Amino acid sequence: MPSQDVISAAEELRNGGVVAFPTETVYGLGADVTNHAAVLRVFALKGRPAHNPLIVHVADESMATTVAGHWPEAAKALARSFWPGPLSIVVEKAELIPPVVTAGGSTVCVRCPLHPTALALIEETARPLVGPSANPSGGVSPTTAAHVRSAFPDLTVLDGGPCQIGIESTVVRFTDDGIEILRPGAICAENIEQATGLKATLFSHKGLERTLQSPGLLSKHYAPTTRTRIVFGDELLTVDLNRAVVLTQFDDPDIPHKIVMPTDAHGYAARLYDALRSADELQVDEIIIVAPTGDGPPGVWLAIADRISRASATDENGEP
Ligand code: TXA
Ligand code: MG
Repeated sequence: MPSQDVISAAEELRNGGVVAFPTETVYGLGADVTNHAAVLRVFALKGRPAHNPLIVHVADESMATTVAGHWPEAAKALARSFWPGPLSIVVEKAELIPPVVTAGGSTVCVRCPLHPTALALIEETARPLVGPSANPSGGVSPTTAAHVRSAFPDLTVLDGGPCQIGIESTVVRFTDDGIEILRPGAICAENIEQATGLKATLFSHKGLERTLQSPGLLSKHYAPTTRTRIVFGDELLTVDLNRAVVLTQFDDPDIPHKIVMPTDAHGYAARLYDALRSADELQVDEIIIVAPTGDGPPGVWLAIADRISRASATDENGEP
């Protein structure tokens, strides 16, 4: 039996409401994918540009086949290896999906989240749910219910505790000769290659083409309001440490305002957004991120590098 909270949240969703829900990556802003007005409200709440399509959340692979016009063999292989889990798959969309969800495009991005509350909510609603990250557009994604409430105090928020992964899902799409990773995440190229036997390549990091292919992947994203910079090694010596807060992996007594970050990739990812939010609240002149390294999959470090470079980008085109 789902909890009373999930049952009433599902009812709210079936009545065209918007509800925030936890996933293993970040919290999402849920709405019934088939309800045009509810989906529009999600765009309005986030201040999200209409040209940026939403991810559709499903309870299992069979629900995914109802939102996809075509479900290729490679999608089957990925779903069987990684779902429920932090992988979003771009496929041709089904009629069922209103154009507002896909920003008028012919493809839909679909994922099955690895979180009991999210799965219970989708099952109880009995509909696929749109679920962009539950933050105002361009800001830092929320990894706790409190983060969501701080931006959307009037919204129903299902509290599923802190997100275990902490950065958004990997987004992939199929090409004629392989798989393109549009957004790196905890599931890496080598995991994807092993599961499908296809070559997986990271879509180019910058440039107009990327922006047009997946508009949400603008360079400036996941950004705190305080100016944020990445420094490498000795560059830290040039920073005015009295006016900055430093995200560092070493508990250096000479740094007055610091947040000590984990040294393993999964731990770092899980902590990153909460650290950026805490740093932002200190209202210093600058947030300094010391370029991280450490144990764990190189692909997860790559996803972390992607997020911190966006957090520190200074304009929408990523040209500092
Ligand atoms: O981990 C996640 O994916 C979280 C949780 C809540 O599930 N959701 C999330 O959604 O990050 P959002 O909307 O903040 O990011 C979705 C990304 C955007 O960059 C968007 O441009 C891209 O996926 N996207 C959505 N539909 C697409 C499509 N049809 N083709 C290419 N990219 C698409
Ligand atoms: Mg987002």
